[in-house]
Amino acid sequence: MSKMNAIRTSGLHYIYADGTVALSDVDFEVKHGEKIAVLGPNGSGKSTLFYHFNGLIKPSRGEVQIFDERISKNNIDDIRKRVGLVFQNADSQLFCHTVLEDISFGPRNIGLDQGKIENRVEWALRRFNLEQFARKNPANLSAGQKKRVAIAGVVAMEPDVLVLDEPTTGLDAGGITDTMELLDELNNEGKTIIMSTHDSDLAAGWADRIYVLNKGKVFGSGIPGHIFANEKLITEAGLKHPVIVSTFREFKARGISKGELPLSVLDLMESLDTKIMNIRCAIASCDIQAGDDVSIRMKDGMLVAEKCPGNVIGKAVSDGKKGEDIAVKDVCGDLVALTGQITIIRVPGIIEGGSRAVHMEKVQGILEKNKGRKIGAMGTSAKVLTGKMGIRCDFEFDVAQSGILAALRGFDVIIFVSGRMADRVLEKVKGRNIKHTSFVL
Ligand SMILES: Nc1ncnc2c1ncn2[C@@H]1O[C@H](COP(=O)(O)OP(=O)(O)OP(=O)(O)O)[C@@H](O)[C@H]1O
Ligand SMILES: [Mg+2]
Repeated sequence: MSKMNAIRTSGLHYIYADGTVALSDVDFEVKHGEKIAVLGPNGSGKSTLFYHFNGLIKPSRGEVQIFDERISKNNIDDIRKRVGLVFQNADSQLFCHTVLEDISFGPRNIGLDQGKIENRVEWALRRFNLEQFARKNPANLSAGQKKRVAIAGVVAMEPDVLVLDEPTTGLDAGGITDTMELLDELNNEGKTIIMSTHDSDLAAGWADRIYVLNKGKVFGSGIPGHIFANEKLITEAGLKHPVIVSTFREFKARGISKGELPLSVLDLMESLDTKIMNIRCAIASCDIQAGDDVSIRMKDGMLVAEKCPGNVIGKAVSDGKKGEDIAVKDVCGDLVALTGQITIIRVPGIIEGGSRAVHMEKVQGILEKNKGRKIGAMGTSAKVLTGKMGIRCDFEFDVAQSGILAALRGFDVIIFVSGRMADRVLEKVKGRNIKHTSFVL
């Protein structure tokens, strides 16, 4: 069964009072449960489009449907409960005297009773790591903190559809990762997420589908692989090609890479034509002369060439002193056998009780048996758990991909992951032929 539309516009035009045509003939469709990025340069109409989604402005022409209903006086209150809009500028959203009041505003406004409001606000403060700011005046927070409060206030209303206008602008690397991870978590819990950005790299790695907007028009839409494969579309829309995509095009032009367009470092690595790559660079573990038979192994995440026999062998191309980079040709043997293992530990998601539902002894036991591994945590409850247990994490950003890349470099890895996100990580690991085990806490 095809999923229902969360939001649909057809032939949407919007003209501002001064005559500026901000949107023209926009057809836009989002199925319930999708993760959509609206990608466009400054002034392309992203914010104007989003204002239509909860009835802040009315189309000059065309129509907007929310869950298959046109917005009208009769349903506008209901629509504002179902569609939560986080403004581009946090200052236009925050107006109370304390963070606590600001986050309570939305839930109160949609008519929840006091007990429910308190629960949700407490939960949102915790989830967004804002407890220490609860009594502070939002006007005195940093730009990144304000942004977090604005998102928390909307999430606290528990809308079915979350619309975020440039949620990562002004956030630092940690803030961006946290925000994107949180959006993934909410999506896994069944929410539809629509966000705008002008960051091609961000959209490429995150969205199920992308709409490219320019000068108020839809330039294209589709899955990220399809959108970024269209070089002309991206250039003409005034956007940047993702770094991975530009790198791949260079590699491909030089005959090193092949196949489908990669959108992550991991996919880029897999685009390398390993069959013709029977020449490798490695660090000499002792003085080596050109023509020497050497073996290659993985050590501390790097390839090392040595003279004792091993599974992967080849011939040194040039002389190299101990510690220098050398090239090894005619490489044969199974490099995959050099990869490490991944242990996936599923931590109950927030809606399943979170880290409080976990027996610490069980975690201690697993860690005892797996000493010396690289560790990463993704998702709120996984991060809370590792934080509570004082476990130092090696990966902070892009944990699933970082873990797989580390395993491919020979490290053994543990990934703590919240709730249903664990299934996605497991799928990714399985797809890479990496030895793995998983535990459910
Ligand atoms: N209140 C307004 N009155 C007149 N024109 C406006 C108004 N708000 C926006 N515009 C114009 O409408 C167009 C689309 O603006 P919009 O804010 O939707 O773009 P955007 O894609 O969100 O840009 P940005 O990336 O800078 O946030 C722009 O040309 C802008 O100048
Ligand atoms: Mg905008």
